[in-house]
Amino acid sequence: MMTIPPRFPDQPVALCHNRMQVYSVVRETPDVWTLSLINHDLYSYRPGQFALVNIGESGEVLRAYTLSSTPGISRFITLTVRHISDGVGSGWLTQQVKAGDYLWLSDAQGEFVCETSGGEPPLLLLAAGCGVTPVMSIARDVLAHHPQQSVQVFYSVRSPQEVIFAAEWQRLAARYPQLKLTVLAEQHAQPGQIAGRLSQDILQSQVPDISARRVMICGPAPYMTLAGNWAAELGAAAQNIIKEQFQTVAESISTDAELTLTRLTPLGNYRVPVGATLLAAMEQHQLPVTAACRAGVCGSCKTRVISGKYQTTSTMTLSAAEIAGGYVLACSCQLEGDVTIA
Ligand code: FES
Repeated sequence: MMTIPPRFPDQPVALCHNRMQVYSVVRETPDVWTLSLINHDLYSYRPGQFALVNIGESGEVLRAYTLSSTPGISRFITLTVRHISDGVGSGWLTQQVKAGDYLWLSDAQGEFVCETSGGEPPLLLLAAGCGVTPVMSIARDVLAHHPQQSVQVFYSVRSPQEVIFAAEWQRLAARYPQLKLTVLAEQHAQPGQIAGRLSQDILQSQVPDISARRVMICGPAPYMTLAGNWAAELGAAAQNIIKEQFQTVAESISTDAELTLTRLTPLGNYRVPVGATLLAAMEQHQLPVTAACRAGVCGSCKTRVISGKYQTTSTMTLSAAEIAGGYVLACSCQLEGDVTIA
């Protein structure tokens, strides 16, 4: 059963020290809400970045959410959140938090950003579902500040009622001739929308200059993999294909073999499946660890491995000295043999 924090965190924690007051909570679609936040101090962020939000009542329990607003353009800092069943953070933010409440946010993080210093290549923005939140943040910014830069957007949803920011997309398309927006709906596509999913054929026929574009992709991992492969096969340069790495990652654990996870302080031995991430193993045995993005981006799950066999898929926030000292990002560390952690 879903556990909802009973009241609001009232103190900053190490990573989340920006106190913001909720101005409004507005429903965007049947399962997506936008929280508009008032920050009384300067809050620096770039279009496309995310922030950690502390959802712990009396300690640090972090979740990562995209900042769907655009600095210098949006009236408020906004988080746009899909309510995931069993999702503690999304359930609390969308069902419990009300106008006037306070939230604690980290500084903005993430590399899914667009350099807009001028002379930039045209953009192709590919979004699926809630992946549209950083895409909207980036699109607003580029359209307002770089009128010469072409912006082509393909936004995939299951049905038209799930289009997030529907009215704002219409306003932007009417105001900025350099924006070409295509909505793809798997079911009940409306006039002007494409029925079905994004495909390589659609990209080939509708983006003839794809090889000249910067391609930014945000959505579920399989969608990003496919879309990235199609863009590459159609000639987009590898350095011009940018995927948002911050996505909720389902844990995939092999259960046919086990290994021993040893914790030195305090000493304890735990049996965990081979192939589990260190984060999953620690959570399985309720060992203290903080995890927000769960995708090797935010750095909150940094853990020191003393010895053992493992592979890492991200070291994004670690310094060379930390890596040399055995630190890993637990969410991005797959256990292959017995492992000892500090
Ligand atoms: S939880 Fe964000 S890097 Fe691991």
